[in-house]
Amino acid sequence: MPSSVKRIGILTGGGDCAGLNAVIRAVTKTAIRQHLLEVIGIADGFQGLAEDRMQLLTFDSVSNILTQGGTILGTNNKYNPSRVAVKEGGVIRHEDHMPRCMDNLARRGIDALIVIGGDGTMSCASLFVQRGINCIGVPKTIDNDLYGTDVTFGFQTAVHVATAALDRIHTTAASHHRAMVVELMGRNAGWITLHAGIASGSDVILLPEIPFDLNIVCDFVVSRARRGKRFSILAVAEGARPRGGQQVVAKMDPTSPDPIRLGGIGQQLAAGIEERTGIETRTTVLGHVQRGGSPVADDRVLATEFGHAAINLLMRGGEGRLVVMRGRTVTDIPLLEAAGRQRLVPLDDPKVIAARQIEACFGD
Ligand code: F6P
Repeated sequence: MPSSVKRIGILTGGGDCAGLNAVIRAVTKTAIRQHLLEVIGIADGFQGLAEDRMQLLTFDSVSNILTQGGTILGTNNKYNPSRVAVKEGGVIRHEDHMPRCMDNLARRGIDALIVIGGDGTMSCASLFVQRGINCIGVPKTIDNDLYGTDVTFGFQTAVHVATAALDRIHTTAASHHRAMVVELMGRNAGWITLHAGIASGSDVILLPEIPFDLNIVCDFVVSRARRGKRFSILAVAEGARPRGGQQVVAKMDPTSPDPIRLGGIGQQLAAGIEERTGIETRTTVLGHVQRGGSPVADDRVLATEFGHAAINLLMRGGEGRLVVMRGRTVTDIPLLEAAGRQRLVPLDDPKVIAARQIEACFGD
């Protein structure tokens, strides 16, 4: 049966990453060229939907954006339409903006939404699915922690940037005979740190999934020095924590649906190593560099495959589905299955085992 979908909305939610524009381009071109749809770009995630900030996307508006970092639509990681924080006289109260979103969708005649985001954005999308709005999700995040897909776009670029930084740290560490701690993003998941740690040949790899023992880390650094390796590289996830201890929180934002910003474990670890071993130790926090800039070729390809698949899935009658990669195949799962769920590094992941067997220390 031919699809009744004529006009779609597209938005990007959560933290930005490399490859968002490549998805927007693939969605828009496939929608216009293959299915003669109208594509409405919604600004700044679900906030733009509530505030009715949107405009028509054309071939021209998505031309020349494949290699551009960020998102031409803008994004937002502080907005859940069903629970919007409003500050009044120092007091925070919450408003439900879902009715505004639903009104705007109806008034604009939008038949379906393409929602590009991570677990938080998919949770928001599920609110629309539950109210009968068809949403097709496209999995984004540098953290690679979205349930149901082997990989999210943006991840490979983040790993590439982190690996390049660790390679550069390597030469300065060796010259000064120092221990060098590099703190990487990833929230509660250690995927970026695991991959970049292996790719750079880091000596110590500390993940949120494997609480570390500072004594073991220090003994390892000292044993390397005794063997004549007078420097050590430590790739540390922002969510890593000592055994029996807590993650280090850099900042709390009570107005955000995702109030905890992790950060600071690198500095804490470096201080501990220097104090216990006497080896001079420095910290680099890589931060948002991992999210910015042009996507690597693999992310451009993945983002294009995902965007193209999202529209074809919609036009085949898919409803409330998330496009995912399983093995080397693009397929899809119910969006509600992935909403709000994280995919962490399993302790028996083959990469963890391989890294251990070539002598990386995980601090346990
Ligand atoms: O989820 C992506 C991510 O970059 C995390 O790795 C990091 O913890 C967080 O977002 C940082 O968020 P913000 O951009 O709000 O500082």
